[in-house]
Amino acid sequence: MTAANESADVPVRLLVRDLAQLVTPSGGASPLRGEGLGEVDVLEDAFVLCEGGKIAAVGRMQDLEPFAGDVVELDGRGLSAIPGLVDCHTHACFAGDRVEEFALRASGASYEELHAAGGGILSTVRATRAAGEDGLRAAVRRHRTSMLRSGTTTFESKSGYGLDRDTELASLRAIADAGGVPTWLGAHGVPSEFEDADAYLDFALSEVLPAAASLAEAADVFVERGAFDVPQARRYLTACAEAGLALRLHGDQFSEQGAVGLAIELRARSIDHLEATGEAGVTALSQSEVAAVLLPASALFLGRPMPPGRALVEAGAIVALATDFNPGSAFCESLPLVTSLAATQLKLSPAEALAACTVNAAHVLGRADRLGRLVPGYAADLVLIDAPDWRYLAYHLGADLVAGVIRSGAPAELR
Ligand code: NIG
Ligand code: FE
Repeated sequence: MTAANESADVPVRLLVRDLAQLVTPSGGASPLRGEGLGEVDVLEDAFVLCEGGKIAAVGRMQDLEPFAGDVVELDGRGLSAIPGLVDCHTHACFAGDRVEEFALRASGASYEELHAAGGGILSTVRATRAAGEDGLRAAVRRHRTSMLRSGTTTFESKSGYGLDRDTELASLRAIADAGGVPTWLGAHGVPSEFEDADAYLDFALSEVLPAAASLAEAADVFVERGAFDVPQARRYLTACAEAGLALRLHGDQFSEQGAVGLAIELRARSIDHLEATGEAGVTALSQSEVAAVLLPASALFLGRPMPPGRALVEAGAIVALATDFNPGSAFCESLPLVTSLAATQLKLSPAEALAACTVNAAHVLGRADRLGRLVPGYAADLVLIDAPDWRYLAYHLGADLVAGVIRSGAPAELR
């Protein structure tokens, strides 16, 4: 058996049979929004047949035709199959930890205070710069395996803890090497060797962007007081779009600074966080094609207000869910836990939460034509959960219910 992105042992055909349930977001359209977000197809007593790394067929056991030729069979009794989970927002390329900061925060210090005092993101920058490319490769692979164990078969990861040329480019290579979708978060913070954000952007856009553009699929910026303001973010993102990158923004995490308007103006793929977004932002996003990526594990970890998930869904915005996995604001690899938080805190139904971290997350990564649904022709990425009803995914809070993961038609090694 093989790790996530290696396919040496892919069986020609793999049949997962006698599943208690198989569930997939309904319909063929993507992204899903409004009422469509909560529509799922559930098959009881089901099978899924994988061939050549793709889904060849799904159906009820009673409709399974006998067939000739080699097939590896997996017993799905008592298990439910869901699409492989897609984590469209992580910061998995970092070294060191922030356990000291975590302890300080637990006794009252705020995330923003620690950031302003040179801790926070910049302390991870120091550790990441010191790790070297081999250290970063090992770190992303380790984090990738933890995510896979929680059912994540596709992950995006940002750079953003190098903020110098060599470490940013090494980060993007390490992410791709581990099978991740790389995003250049070249505007995550202002490193201490620069006088201000504008001086840092002069450097990043002239010295790093030309090479980053050929390694990354998207660019991201942290729009916040103490990080980058809207004019600076506009300058950075416009240059990145001209270099061919899709656009993402960290916006409205602590305060509304105008990031929603900028995301819409620049036709960004997504704006992520939105814990501070008010009614006007919800309305604007719902009338746009910009996805709202909600990160409730980050709000929980920092003790911040939750983003307005229900309001965004009701208004018809494109809603996706992700972990925000990183050492400072969300030390959490688990999308199943995120679906629980979506249900209990954001008031999304289990079905809405499932679509938000499968097909809609795949849309944010430009892959909704092949990832995030259990239908013929899509990638044979699926998670087998140890429950007779797939909604245990969100219901069983903090449980280790991933019984198996199939990636590209092959059982993945989880340990
Ligand atoms: O999405 N807010 C900006 N970036 C990350 C946190 C990074 C860190 O604290 O190391 C986030 O929460
Ligand atoms: Fe983030």
